[in-house]
Amino acid sequence: MSFTMGLNLLLLLAMVATNILSLYHLSSTLQSKSPTPLPVPDHLLHQLQTIRATINHLTRLQPTTTPTTTKRPSIPSDLLLYTHLSPIASSCHQHPDLLHKYMTYTPFSLCPLDSSLAEALILRGCHPLPRRRCFTKTPPSIPTSLPTNPFAPLPDNAIIWNPYTCKTFYCLNPYLGFDPKSEKSKFVTYKSDLDLPIQQLLAIANLGHSVVRLGLDIGGGTGTFAAQMKGFNVTVLTTTMNLGAPYNEVVGLRGLVPLHAPLQQRLPVFDGVVDIVRCGHGVNRWIPVTALEFLFFDVDRVLRGGGYFWLDHFFSKGVDLENVYGPLIGKLGYKKVKWAVGNKSDSSGVKNGEVYLSALLQKPVSK
Ligand SMILES: *[C@@H]1O[C@H](CO)[C@@H](O)[C@H](O)[C@H]1NC(C)=O
Ligand SMILES: *[C@@H]1O[C@H](CO)[C@@H](O)[C@H](O)[C@H]1NC(C)=O
Repeated sequence: MSFTMGLNLLLLLAMVATNILSLYHLSSTLQSKSPTPLPVPDHLLHQLQTIRATINHLTRLQPTTTPTTTKRPSIPSDLLLYTHLSPIASSCHQHPDLLHKYMTYTPFSLCPLDSSLAEALILRGCHPLPRRRCFTKTPPSIPTSLPTNPFAPLPDNAIIWNPYTCKTFYCLNPYLGFDPKSEKSKFVTYKSDLDLPIQQLLAIANLGHSVVRLGLDIGGGTGTFAAQMKGFNVTVLTTTMNLGAPYNEVVGLRGLVPLHAPLQQRLPVFDGVVDIVRCGHGVNRWIPVTALEFLFFDVDRVLRGGGYFWLDHFFSKGVDLENVYGPLIGKLGYKKVKWAVGNKSDSSGVKNGEVYLSALLQKPVSK
């Protein structure tokens, strides 16, 4: 598919948009019998102006010579077109091989089975990924009823298993969160001071005259925190990656919201709208401190005043908790509602002198 054809398509798109706008105008004119005709919303005008500007820009870019003389013929035309429509993250350019592979496909047909390629790009900071005009393969089975119970057995045929070694849920390591039966006891039981059962969490919020309606679980795996919170009528969004297993699909199958976003990405949520953010196991000393600081401040951005930041089993070396992570958390200026530290007793924990921190912090009401 040539660049010129792409451009033509875009022009067509713009024409359609213009027509929609005229139609809108017309319909509001027709409605003018009513006292005040509705004005064209600013955002629609703005969007149209943006489309126009993009087209003008692209027209100027259109090669006047034959395509054979194009400077970089190796770039897939869809990528070229898309990068002019919407910016993609700069780190995409640092992985041209992966990116070109990703954007080499046949438009208007089935997409290649390359979800692991997408995952690889996202993890390298190439996010958002460019859009593609192909159809993603869907699993053979479709859900026939609303998932009223997020702990119901997971249907194997609702997953495209091609990217994975396992071909059933049963084959996956039960510790990964794919066994609904064992997930049922998580977040509701208290075994040590490092645990914070949901009942206790909500009681704390209640005592502080704080309501918990909406939450965000960062690195939430198969969404079990969201699943348990659903039982308390709290909506929780789960950011999760498909690291070697179909985590995103499972969150969806459970009737919960999976956000396919890596840890280094700005949270796709507006400022001050969530009541609680939880960081699970994925957030730990393996994240470079600079990246972690950005993450913490982004958590602060999305939390409302009085909202809670729950670091659940954050692990680091004991000395680093004192010298690095403790002070880093302190920069937020949050109230320490809970601060529990315990030895990490597994083999790598013992070897590296690691400790767990479970902390519930409350954002000040006004800053
Ligand atoms: C959740 O909401 C439903 C419907 O409003 C209600 O019946 C139920 O008691 C609520 N559950 C909790 C734990 O508040
Ligand atoms: C934790 O580990 C340290 C050494 O790494 C040890 O001195 C301390 O007694 C341990 N604490 C508990 C409660 O086991």
